Amino acid sequence: MESVQLDYTCALADAVGPEHGITEADLDALAAPSAAALRGVLARRERDLCWLGLPDAHEVRGRIGEYAASVAGRFQNVVVLGIGGSALGNTALFTALQGPFHNLCPPDGLPRLFVLDNVDPDLIGEWMERFDPSRTLFNVISKSGGTAETMSQFLIFRDLLVERLGEEGHREHVVITTDAEKGVLREVVEREGYASFVVPEGVGGRFSVLSPVGLLSSALVGVDIESLAAGAAAMARRCESERLGENPALVYAALQWWMQARANKPISVTFAYSHRLRNLGDWYAQLLAESIGKRVSRGGQECFAGPTPVRAVGVTDQHSQVQLYVEGPHDKWFTLLCVERPHREVTIPAVPAGLEALDYLGGRGLGELFAAERDGTRVALREASRPSVSVLFPTVDAHSVGQYLFLMELAVAVMGEHYDVDAFDQPGVEAGKVAAYALMGREGYEERRAAIEAAGSGAPRRV
Ligand code: PA5
Repeated sequence: MESVQLDYTCALADAVGPEHGITEADLDALAAPSAAALRGVLARRERDLCWLGLPDAHEVRGRIGEYAASVAGRFQNVVVLGIGGSALGNTALFTALQGPFHNLCPPDGLPRLFVLDNVDPDLIGEWMERFDPSRTLFNVISKSGGTAETMSQFLIFRDLLVERLGEEGHREHVVITTDAEKGVLREVVEREGYASFVVPEGVGGRFSVLSPVGLLSSALVGVDIESLAAGAAAMARRCESERLGENPALVYAALQWWMQARANKPISVTFAYSHRLRNLGDWYAQLLAESIGKRVSRGGQECFAGPTPVRAVGVTDQHSQVQLYVEGPHDKWFTLLCVERPHREVTIPAVPAGLEALDYLGGRGLGELFAAERDGTRVALREASRPSVSVLFPTVDAHSVGQYLFLMELAVAVMGEHYDVDAFDQPGVEAGKVAAYALMGREGYEERRAAIEAAGSGAPRRV
């Protein structure tokens, strides 16, 4: 199979100048810390970073395949109830591998997929009015098994399913993905006897896309999860090399750190030149933001670390954001997701007489235009001294997407070493969860509620 490549030519000082681009000497200086960072990360594979081993977790994929086969043809809709790392990968895989229009007319009797990763009552309420419970399977995903958003969704839909299908009948419409032992959701599985899958130990939410969290819904809608895992495994093998020039995860991590720490670029833009790959930008935004955005270093010193991820889609955002990117502040670097061979070509028809101004388009392929726009943007960025790298996907398929996912997961883990932060916790997210529990009056959070109310007791200022 072909490899996903990282082209960093346009991030070099030779391309964008020494103030904005990295030099060979800078890269040489990063070689030893990068190798040490990789050793540090890989040494934890069997201990607490078990997501590194997911590409080799054949047995669980077998069980997912068996479950998917057992319900094949049974449901018209699969609905994911989850949030953050328990939803973003599902959407990214679905859009990339089944395409943005799968739900219009799913092929081969496959179900449609909906990822309801919000508790906006307008969203959930509208879905409740429109869906047919008898033809819907809910995959409830929560590693902790207690997240308020996901639990409230579960309670709402459980109630509705029981009301329409009965206590016994509703059970085959629910499959749970959660911790093997901890959390309310595991208790629910045991009490109700729902089908279930496990989020393994050592697999944090944002590193869980290659576990049952991301794989189950993917398998249900027809994604080739074995090929996805094979792509991830191939990237894992390539990324075992401690030599910076051979290892794309090391290069990407080093560039991210250097761009922020040495070239004053706190913003990292993922610019997906592929409609199918657009949601990979959302997935990566969470991975980067939650992993590296930290108040304290591993030694406990305040550091306020972290790049700000931004997502853009080509060519759409050329007509929205590129003006800022090319002429605004020098505070960003860019990762272009590029597809070398799209699945389809669409030819622009010959131009009718009288419209000679459009002759340059007549008879040309949209793919040609798309590539010219992408390459034109890269050139415009380079000429304006804006550094970029390109992740080159041979084509959009499960193997290449699996490579990308593993590449970015490992790169972010290595970044944690460069930034000297714990890339695997999320105290800021937990703080928000605790505040929400307090405001909802959850038992045990009374003190927190009082503190929030006291802090917010000033007169509101509104205009
Ligand atoms: O990456 C993370 O850990 C978070 O974004 C979680 O995925 C998110 O908060 C949801 O948590 P849970 O899966 O426990 O419901």
